[in-house]
Amino acid sequence: MTVVTPAGKLTPVLSDSWDKEQGYSLESYRRNGGYQGLDKALRMERSEIVDLVKASGLRGRGGAGFPTGLKWSFLPPDDGKPRYLVVNADESEPGTCKDIPTMMGNPHVLLEGIAITSRAIRCEHAFIYLRGEVVHVYRRLLNAVRELEEAGIIGEGLGPNGDFNLKITVHAGAGAYICGEETALLDSLEGMRGHPRLKPPFPAVAGLYARPTVVNNVESIASVVGILNHGAEWFGAMGTEKSKGHGLFSVSGHVKHPGQFEAPFGITMRELIEMAGGIREGHQLKFWTPGGSSTPIFTAEQLDMPLDYDSCSQAGSMLGTRALQVFDETTSVVRVITRWTEFYQHESCGKCTPCREGTYWLKQVMLRLEAGQGQEGDVDLLLDIANNIAGRSFCALGDAAATPIKSGIEHFREEFEAGLTTPARELFPYEASAVF
Ligand code: NAI
Ligand code: SF4
Repeated sequence: MTVVTPAGKLTPVLSDSWDKEQGYSLESYRRNGGYQGLDKALRMERSEIVDLVKASGLRGRGGAGFPTGLKWSFLPPDDGKPRYLVVNADESEPGTCKDIPTMMGNPHVLLEGIAITSRAIRCEHAFIYLRGEVVHVYRRLLNAVRELEEAGIIGEGLGPNGDFNLKITVHAGAGAYICGEETALLDSLEGMRGHPRLKPPFPAVAGLYARPTVVNNVESIASVVGILNHGAEWFGAMGTEKSKGHGLFSVSGHVKHPGQFEAPFGITMRELIEMAGGIREGHQLKFWTPGGSSTPIFTAEQLDMPLDYDSCSQAGSMLGTRALQVFDETTSVVRVITRWTEFYQHESCGKCTPCREGTYWLKQVMLRLEAGQGQEGDVDLLLDIANNIAGRSFCALGDAAATPIKSGIEHFREEFEAGLTTPARELFPYEASAVF
């Protein structure tokens, strides 16, 4: 294996100012060249901006990896009526923690990305839908938007032709995971209870208030700034053929130095664990997740798999949100998956039967296995329930609830079987697996 030094592999673009004194302020951001990308965009044709983002190969950073420029080009021809940009900042996937530090450490890179995107799609009112619990981020974003308005960077009649109008609204949700699903998010933004809508029509055609709407993740929009500043080739030179550019990889759990590592797509988990100081002293890797709790669990076998959309897909997973949670041999896989299952059951919106009822039953069976009180046939029962949720639910939450159970049993069936007689706390004492 080639040994790559951490410094040679990291590409701090979005994260470069996180450690700077007041790096979040407009003054600091502008001192380091901030808002030059917007100046450039205001001198370009709208279609040129869309073509540039398409050429860069940027794909959605919220998890699904849909090509960003292509999504923008799905908007119907401009009829002069409102069209919206909605930034999905409802980061809630267990283990996922990349957008919140981006908005705290560098809110202006997101706001500049919003301004450039709004220019490209002719949106005059953009929204940031933020997870409600992160009040500190809410305040930071409100301050940053106010700084922009006071500096005359957003407002009315701006730009060289006086035709750039933009208002940015920061909206804090009420803490429901389902509101990260883009159409439930739109319902919530419209003041209704967040329930996923039937697709098609996709938001690009009928989104917020039934108007054409681009919904993009925080990191996707923030990444547009570098593309405007340095070009599509610069961006495409990082990453792999079909997963271009840089991304934030969030390493958490049983490593010595958990944290954010901004690196090109295609980096491997082995390299990231090395950068995180390795597995904690005296322990070995047991399993890890490529994209939070919604993706299958991986083991040491996948350590050298490039973390890009295609390699993950070939390994039977989505790349997801690059929430790389590391678990060592002191961890009970049954306990971990029980916690995730409780989460999905609690967050199921209840709209469709397979997910509403199925997550409830998954939780009951997982809880008794965790307590060492499983019943004969429980492991097959779990698989049966999971198979009746996956692919039969209205939105991705149902599939997400089924995925860790199916892959957990595939890799560690004997631990699930042990739950028929022995509590997880006896097999894996909690004190041994705790990190802090
Ligand atoms: P999806 O594949 O259905 O859609 C991805 C995007 O492409 C959407 O914006 C959709 O509107 C657009 N799109 C797809 N086909 C289209 C078409 N034909 N025309 C126009 N637009 C089209 O994926 P989904 O359900 O939106 O997201 C699932 C992902 O979200 C998973 O990968 C999961 O990892 C991630 N996720 C992230 C969370 C977080 O906290 N960031 C939380 C939960 C899930
Ligand atoms: Fe709601 Fe779950 Fe059905 Fe999604 S899969 S619509 S979260 S009940």
